[in-house]
Amino acid sequence: MRAHPAGPRHGEILAPSGAPPLPADTDALHSLSPVVWPLTTARSDGAGLTARSVSIAGVDVRDLAAEFGTPLFVLDEADFRMRAAAFREAYDDPQAPADVFYAGKAFLSATVARWVAEEGLGLDVCSGGELLTAVRAGFPADRIALHGNNKSTDELDLALSSGVGRYVVDSFEEIVRLADAATRHGVVADVLVRVTVGVEAHTHEFIATAHEDQKFGLSLAGGAAEEAVRRIVKLPSLRLLGLHSHIGSQIFDTAGFEVSAHRLVGLAASIRDEHGLEVAELDLGGGMGIAYLDGEDPMTPGDMADLLRSIVVRECAVYGLTLPRLAVEPGRAIVGPSMVTLYEVGTVKEVDLGSGHARHYVSVDGGMSDNIRTALYDADYTVRLVSRVSEAAPVLSRVVGKHCESGDVVVRDCWLPGDLEAGDLLAVAATGAYCRAMASNYNHVPRPAVVSVKDGVAQVVLRRETPDDLLALDAGLTS
Ligand code: LLP
Repeated sequence: MRAHPAGPRHGEILAPSGAPPLPADTDALHSLSPVVWPLTTARSDGAGLTARSVSIAGVDVRDLAAEFGTPLFVLDEADFRMRAAAFREAYDDPQAPADVFYAGKAFLSATVARWVAEEGLGLDVCSGGELLTAVRAGFPADRIALHGNNKSTDELDLALSSGVGRYVVDSFEEIVRLADAATRHGVVADVLVRVTVGVEAHTHEFIATAHEDQKFGLSLAGGAAEEAVRRIVKLPSLRLLGLHSHIGSQIFDTAGFEVSAHRLVGLAASIRDEHGLEVAELDLGGGMGIAYLDGEDPMTPGDMADLLRSIVVRECAVYGLTLPRLAVEPGRAIVGPSMVTLYEVGTVKEVDLGSGHARHYVSVDGGMSDNIRTALYDADYTVRLVSRVSEAAPVLSRVVGKHCESGDVVVRDCWLPGDLEAGDLLAVAATGAYCRAMASNYNHVPRPAVVSVKDGVAQVVLRRETPDDLLALDAGLTS
């Protein structure tokens, strides 16, 4: 198994990629499985192959490309709201009250922050920039949780002056820094202790060893979490609200959460025994997985909520603890499937692989600057020709970007029609999470726009960067 270069914790660890199965026929080559494509995606059944383009929320991708340019992130508002609402409903149980915080790191803009607020979710932010976006968008600050392993005093000041509801503290230094800042602001800050529970989960596997060698959290096994609680309860400007853990990302089952909940509840019991204090909240973090490929089968929010609830209820019963308010922080599972990236094909190159095989290198007008996940995590994606249908035979293809680097791959192995040509539009599914959010300006390529679509209308959510935006930073050109 290949190690994730940025640390295994947050990457999908995928087997070395190989050619996916050959599509059965032309229909399969053009299929738009609802497992990976946004809710409102449809291929028109107009006459003629070129008329059979794809629309999202009733907006033709060719019109989107013509009006907003490519690469373009297209966000299906109905899909996003449907997923947010599904999480809210899944955790809406009067017997076991719970909160859902959308993890803004997956993708955040003012528009999205407003949708999240309207759908009744809270918001997890992990930097001053995310916090400022939420605050300026008018997101109710008491429903914001501030994360981060190195929150600056400026970030804490912004949070305290905005009335942020929860601080997930990550170090002994931060406890002091936050307590001082809260005293200066004349407020009492509600804190959760981020606990390193010794669980690491990815997709179908989890490892429940003492995985302590990482930057996040305060170790349970090493006693740092308990020590953090001792320090917090002594500080009048802090109030211990609860315990938090985040075990990984792109998780498909509850086994890792079960161990994490077991350990957190055990800690809650020892806090009660030592301090006579029952923690009010238990936050199990995010990481709920999504399908990137047809055939992948993530749990529904409802099924996962039922399991998580029953685990926490059972663990609390074991220790005789009052059931704390539960919280989860899904990012990818809400925004991931709601967005697709639209690219225009530039060049197509046939490369001889030997033994009678060839691969088409299909270059698009973006790449690792708008989707680093393939290069960074070996992530797999689904891609389709969307501006027309083709009856040409499928060809083993690799969708690559325009960057000056051979690792600049968007979709490593896929089947695409053999007659792709410059001007065709391709769409890559499930790019809502950690693509625009992790976009860069590598090679001085401006970052793409994000456009939301709903009921036949497209609206800019984030405008496209222009070359002038990039040049404006260059003091040698502006002074
Ligand atoms: N809560 C905490 C404390 C987190 O650290 C994260 C993600 C989340 C919630 C949301 O996790 P989600 O539900 O989106 O999996 N760049 C990587 C993912 C990094 C996740 C970082 N933390 C990727 O592209 O796969």
